[in-house]
Amino acid sequence: MSDLSFASLIENKPVRIEKNGESICVTRVGEEVFAIGDTCSHSDASLSEGDVSDHKIECWLHGAEFDLRTGVALTLPAVTPVKTYEVAIDGDSVTVNI
Ligand code: FES
Repeated sequence: MSDLSFASLIENKPVRIEKNGESICVTRVGEEVFAIGDTCSHSDASLSEGDVSDHKIECWLHGAEFDLRTGVALTLPAVTPVKTYEVAIDGDSVTVNI
């Protein structure tokens, strides 16, 4: 069963989903969809409430940026990557694989 409908995803507007007890931030960029752990690796903030530009998401709390493709922390104060998840797109069905 899919987690989201592709048509429901607005470009660069992340959404948070819960799956298997994990909080996941799902973001559409163009025709691609990226999924990363929703909790910032710096402290307890939800990345899906952050701003997205150029394949980066900025934590709203202290401004650390993460690469949506790799989960790598690009700017301080975060230094630890967040988890990434594989995303399968089949027509309008978007599934995050855990
Ligand atoms: S909680 Fe995200 S940068 Fe501090």
